[in-house]
Amino acid sequence: MIQTNFDLKSVNTFGISAKAKFFATFSSVQELADLLASYPQEERLILGGGSNLLLTKDFNGLVLKNEMKGFQVTFEDENEVLVQAGAGEVWHEFVMQCIDQNFSGLENLSLIPGSVGASPMQNIGAYGVEIKDCFESLQAYHIASGEIHSFDKAACAFGYRESVFKNVLKGQYIICAVTFRLKKNATVNTSYGAISSELEKRGVSDPTIRDVSQAVIAIRQSKLPDPKVIGNAGSFFKNPIVHQSVYAAIQKNFPDAPYYPTDENHGKLAAGWLIEQAGWKGKTFDTYGVHKLQALVLVNYGGSTGNQIYDLSSQIIADIQLKFGVTLEREVNIL
Ligand code: EPU
Repeated sequence: MIQTNFDLKSVNTFGISAKAKFFATFSSVQELADLLASYPQEERLILGGGSNLLLTKDFNGLVLKNEMKGFQVTFEDENEVLVQAGAGEVWHEFVMQCIDQNFSGLENLSLIPGSVGASPMQNIGAYGVEIKDCFESLQAYHIASGEIHSFDKAACAFGYRESVFKNVLKGQYIICAVTFRLKKNATVNTSYGAISSELEKRGVSDPTIRDVSQAVIAIRQSKLPDPKVIGNAGSFFKNPIVHQSVYAAIQKNFPDAPYYPTDENHGKLAAGWLIEQAGWKGKTFDTYGVHKLQALVLVNYGGSTGNQIYDLSSQIIADIQLKFGVTLEREVNIL
């Protein structure tokens, strides 16, 4: 059913009110094709979980929410499985299903808001794992031709919070299903400091994938606001990758500044650390602000506009530029 003048508040995790001229959900390729054919002239926006989006204005076109479901083991041997999931599956529920079946690989990505279909878009990552580490392939609907095209890992051109679907192919494809290569004989990744300390705190010395998942959930819940309670889209900014000379200059004044080398001459700075040092952490302006426990996350306490949050992000970018000579980039899609 097509709805007109639809308030998108319930379908974006920031909880921002903005109107869509037309709104519909689809749960099959046929439904998607029919909807696109019915409104050929309208601008389109495809939503997954709406968890990486800031709406700054009404959308004068057709918003389609992907609800294609499915969980299927398409290959299996002693050591590995290929699991295909519908793009409209809720990411965390999909991860929990994998853990229930003892398929390892995605447990560090527990509790990330959003949908399976959105996960390759920005190569979601947390606690030492990115989806590219377990990604096998995806099926996507090519809007121009109506064909389904398959993409392997190389074709997706994954980078840090990046893929071909955010760049060269932006707006051209709708992801329908994603296949992951997972391990049957659990190998856990507890390299991220916070995970090992959480496991230690829980007295777990030989962790199962469920232990790791539960540790990740506890860490996330202790730092990140639950979008069902406080509107947010996770990290609002990317961690900037800078030349080591930039880090060296910061380190002179802040010997403990976090820095994670990415190659010989470059590394990632922690944007949350920079924002906190600049005094923004926990700053609140009536209905919105910077989260008090994680400075990378901007929050809507209820009733703020996308523009207020966007303007706040611009002020933060300008201030970090001024104080540290580092340019922060937004991670969230602005519309
Ligand atoms: N830090 C601060 N102050 C803060 C936040 C962080 O000083 O307010 C410092 C921490 O103490 C630590 C460093 O910054 O030394 C890194 O912090 P953390 O481990 O919390 O991770 P992050 O870099 O802030 C990234 C991802 C998160 C992901 C975590 C865990 C990005 C943009 N964000 O955050 O992803 O959950 O690592 O792996 O890469 C998301 O993308 O929405 C997201 C939440």
